[in-house]
Amino acid sequence: MWFFSLIEEQRGLFLFSLPETNNPDGGMEMKKSVQDIPAIAGGNPTKTVPYGTRTRYGKEELKQLKEVIDKGTLFYVYGNKVKDLERRIAGLTGTEYAVAASSGTSSIHAAMIALGISPGDEIITAPITDMGSLIPILYQGAVPVFADICPHSYTLSPQSVEERITDRTRAVLAIHLWGNACDLAALKAICLRHNLFLIEDCAQAWGCTYKGRSVGAIGNIGCFSMNESKHISCGEGGVTVAGDKDIARRLRLATDKCYDRESGAAFRDPSFLANNYRMSELQAAIALAQLDKLAGIVERRRWWGTELSSRLHDLEGITLPQPTSGCDPTWWFYMLRVKPEKLGCNADEYAAALKAEGLGATAHYIGRCVYEYLVFTRHSAFERSGHPYEKYDYHTGLCPIAEKVLETGVVLPVSEAFTDIDLEETAEAICRVTRWFMGKA
Ligand SMILES: Cc1ncc(COP(=O)(O)O)c(C=O)c1O
Repeated sequence: MWFFSLIEEQRGLFLFSLPETNNPDGGMEMKKSVQDIPAIAGGNPTKTVPYGTRTRYGKEELKQLKEVIDKGTLFYVYGNKVKDLERRIAGLTGTEYAVAASSGTSSIHAAMIALGISPGDEIITAPITDMGSLIPILYQGAVPVFADICPHSYTLSPQSVEERITDRTRAVLAIHLWGNACDLAALKAICLRHNLFLIEDCAQAWGCTYKGRSVGAIGNIGCFSMNESKHISCGEGGVTVAGDKDIARRLRLATDKCYDRESGAAFRDPSFLANNYRMSELQAAIALAQLDKLAGIVERRRWWGTELSSRLHDLEGITLPQPTSGCDPTWWFYMLRVKPEKLGCNADEYAAALKAEGLGATAHYIGRCVYEYLVFTRHSAFERSGHPYEKYDYHTGLCPIAEKVLETGVVLPVSEAFTDIDLEETAEAICRVTRWFMGKA
């Protein structure tokens, strides 16, 4: 007679079974063994307490919003919330200038416009990112060129970037994925050597520092997002930061239809093409309240990422995310990688086992490299042909390391609301599942 046979049958799994025993020590022995059986094989899920949650928007946001309504304008030129927000973000990032925008995507587009990125220019960037990094390049008529990434930090490989430079390259768009900075010293040196702009996509990296400085402050322009999923949110929002006065002036114009509101000129006379990417006073009011919470959010996420890695570091069969040397990341998510040859399972099977333990695990992050999306493989950005990117062949195999990272990656959520119990249960579930797969392999 076999203790777990019923459960196994119900789940269609025949992976583990324990004999019943009358041995007085057998109870303990069985208890220990039961703990070792993952939920996917019939054990009890490790996670017994729901993940910690938090109320994201509250009285602080309401207070700021009321001040906007009392002031009687939602337009940044007449109000003071957008201006306050820009001052505070410049201070926070240690930059001279900040220009608020309507989203992270629009902030990156404003950066491209401000730097004069033009049709046919090539922009080197990373293949694991959000479309918000790429839409601006395509709309400028420029060409995204994808460099490969480092296998453990998941950020741009400087060597691969340098290999992709041609005489048409104008800029590098560095994606600080998961709240971890790229190797900014190496990228900056490459950009200086080849006379390229360095734009930092900091959408996922609020609060992240590199060699003691805020991300966004090291390249020519840094771009942040405040969409609902980011460390801080105002629903939709973005901001660019820069140290150069002329670039900052162009960023303002690039965000506001190239209307020069500061010159006092009687008539408008836009000199380049720019969109309406303005932030309203309402968004800025929420963002200001959120900024007050950023330090606490960052502190808790750092605690989570560091503690989780320290509990898992000696596990065989998986590799952990590795912060870039010199970077103090802020853990927008936590992506580990499975070693199928050691575990005898793939990322889907591993994520399914973690899910059965009660963790919010998913395999493959964004699924495939962005250059494998139809908009690239079919050059279907526009209905009819003529865009310079059509000359480039985007296909699977362009960035083998990035493809492997996605194939083997398992993403775990991170939240400032997660508790000490969440941490213990998460670590325990990962250890349990990993050791079980290792034992079977
Ligand atoms: C790396 C990265 N860049 C850009 C963006 C675009 O930001 P938004 O959604 O605010 O336009 C995102 C959003 O998810 C992102 O993760």
